[in-house]
Amino acid sequence: MINILMSGCNGRMGQVIVSLVKERDDVKIVCGVDTYDGIKNEFPVYADFENIAEKVDVIIDFSNPSALDGLLDYAVKYNVPCVLCTTGYSEEQIDAINNAAKSVAVFRSGNMSLGINLLIEISKMAAKVFGSDFDIEIVEKHHNKKIDAPSGTALMIADEISTVTDYDPEYVYDRHSVRKKRDKKEIGISSVRGGTIVGEHEVIFAGDNEVVTISHQAQSRNLFAAGALNAAVFLADKGAGNYNMSDLLRSKY
Ligand SMILES: NC(=O)c1ccc[n+]([C@@H]2O[C@H](COP(=O)([O-])OP(=O)(O)OC[C@H]3O[C@@H](n4cnc5c(N)ncnc54)[C@H](O)[C@@H]3O)[C@@H](O)[C@H]2O)c1
Repeated sequence: MINILMSGCNGRMGQVIVSLVKERDDVKIVCGVDTYDGIKNEFPVYADFENIAEKVDVIIDFSNPSALDGLLDYAVKYNVPCVLCTTGYSEEQIDAINNAAKSVAVFRSGNMSLGINLLIEISKMAAKVFGSDFDIEIVEKHHNKKIDAPSGTALMIADEISTVTDYDPEYVYDRHSVRKKRDKKEIGISSVRGGTIVGEHEVIFAGDNEVVTISHQAQSRNLFAAGALNAAVFLADKGAGNYNMSDLLRSKY
C-alpha cells in the first residue's frame, strides 16, 4: 500500500483523485495540503507542508505553482518522491525542481494521460521515418471555456517532435495573416474551441500521396487522475532524478 499526500486535494483534480483512490487497493491518501478548507475529507488536510504528522510515501500535486517551495522543502527534507502535475511553473521554479531532483525522485508532466504520451512517442517515430518529405500539422480542439490557445499539450507535442527532426521547425499558428506557400520546415498548429470538448489532439503527417493521422481524444478528466496515481506507484521506489511519462511508458513495453 502506497501512502499518498494529496497536494491540492480540495481542487477539481484533487477531488477526482480522492474518488478514484477509493476504488483502488494499492494506494491510500493519508493526508492532504490545500489552502482552501471548505471540503470535508476522510483524511486530515493541512494548509501548508509545515507540520505534517503522517508517514508519506509519495506526494501527488495538482495545485498551484505557489505551493512549490514548501512542497520541495518537505520532499527533500524527508526524502519523499513527488509527482508534479501542476502547470505554469516559472523558469526559476523549473530550476528549483531540477535541483530537488538531485536528491529525491521527481516526476513531472504537463499532461498525465498515458494515451497522449503514447501519441507523442508514435509521432516522434513517424517524424523520423517520414523526414522532411511529409508536412506536419497539429490540430487541437477544446471546450469553449478554455482561455489559452494553442493548448499546452499541442505545444508539448510540437516540442517533442522538434527534438527528432533534422531541421529546426518554425511553429505557424496563424495562416490567414500571411499569403505564401507552406514552408517544409513549418509545424502548423491550429485551435478549435467549442461546446464541452474535453480535449482532442491530432497530428497530421501529409505526404505527396498519403496522409497519416495520429489522434487522441480525452473523454474525461479522470484520465489525468488515473495517470497521476499510476505515476505515484511507479515513482514510490525510485531513487533521486527527474522522471516523466516517457519513463512510465517505457516501463510498460
Ligand atoms: N498534468 C496534467 O495532466 C494536468 C491535468 C489537469 C490539470 N492540471 C493542472 O493541475 C493544477 C490544478 O488543476 P485543477 O483543475 O484541479 O485546479 P483547481 O483550481 O480546481 O484546484 C487547485 C487546488 O489547489 C489549491 N491551492 C492553490 N494554491 C495552493 C497552495 N499554495 N498550497 C496548497 N493548495 C493550493 C486550491 O485551493 C485548489 O483547491 C493546474 O495547474 C492545472 O493546469 C494538470
